[in-house]
Amino acid sequence: MASSRPSQYFHPRRLGHVNLWVEDLARSERFYNQSCGLTVEFSEPDLIATFLGTGQTPHDLGMIQKTNGIDRYGRDGILQLPGTIGRDVGLNHLAWELENEADLVDAYKQLKAADIDTDITVDHQVAHSVYMFDPDGNYNEFYCDTVQNWREVLHGEMDLITSMWDPLTAEPFTEGRYERNPELRIVEAAALHPQRVTHAVIRSSNVSRLVDFYTRVAGLRLVAEDCDVIYLAGSHDGYAYNLVIVPAAQAGYGHAAFEVANEEALDAAVQILSGSSAAVVETVDLPWKRSLFLRDPDGLISEWYVRRNGGRDLRARGEVSLLRAA
Ligand SMILES: [Fe+2]
Repeated sequence: MASSRPSQYFHPRRLGHVNLWVEDLARSERFYNQSCGLTVEFSEPDLIATFLGTGQTPHDLGMIQKTNGIDRYGRDGILQLPGTIGRDVGLNHLAWELENEADLVDAYKQLKAADIDTDITVDHQVAHSVYMFDPDGNYNEFYCDTVQNWREVLHGEMDLITSMWDPLTAEPFTEGRYERNPELRIVEAAALHPQRVTHAVIRSSNVSRLVDFYTRVAGLRLVAEDCDVIYLAGSHDGYAYNLVIVPAAQAGYGHAAFEVANEEALDAAVQILSGSSAAVVETVDLPWKRSLFLRDPDGLISEWYVRRNGGRDLRARGEVSLLRAA
């Protein structure tokens, strides 16, 4: 019997979080908390992982100490982090928030029917997740929130959180359980006070192959193309875009971008951080945004920015590199 293939599999609302492999968990946690102003929401000492955020989602930024080739297990003996991954610092995964569990399960079943490989499927206590790699080897998590009051479930130091979840035996719920009225928290003493992670930037030597994956499989919308840079978004109209793909000779992670409240707040942060040991890589002043780029203790870059009303025109970016202007 012929079966029809969906034109898209997942249908994400937005980028929920970015997760990084780090060399030294305590050092990275200090940087993103004390300098960048992300609140530590919960940690998982046995996994050597910390989860920080603004409150928009259970975390905007996760970080896990790299495996150095040694397997790490979740609950019930699930091999959560095989030693074959996380050998270097950098991107662990991008996480895409779906509307509900029925959407997640449906996409999973359609992928199975189309013989498209996925990786582990897990229960994170506040989310159910399907993981898979894009054609460049970037790891992606597609998840639905399973509880709205996630701070009641995950806070402080947690015992192992993650166990197996089987989408094929799930009786999926159809209502969105993401937080609609998030309680945002700021770190008063920090230089920055971000409001949310908005997008990630990745580089690719085969942009068309990645665009095919992120539109057809991941289900993002193509919202703009400028100087061969591709802008993709989820269905949440409160975000201009959630993923930027920049053509480059070498594929790899570019950076994650966090929005701050206004230019005064960004200027104040620039002043404080310029006089501190936090590595300011670059400040960017363009008609369409003003940004501060920081280098974290592992050398990974993050962007802290305010959007401006001017139209984006990457040809007119001056001295700013394509990666930073995008
Ligand atoms: Fe995640």
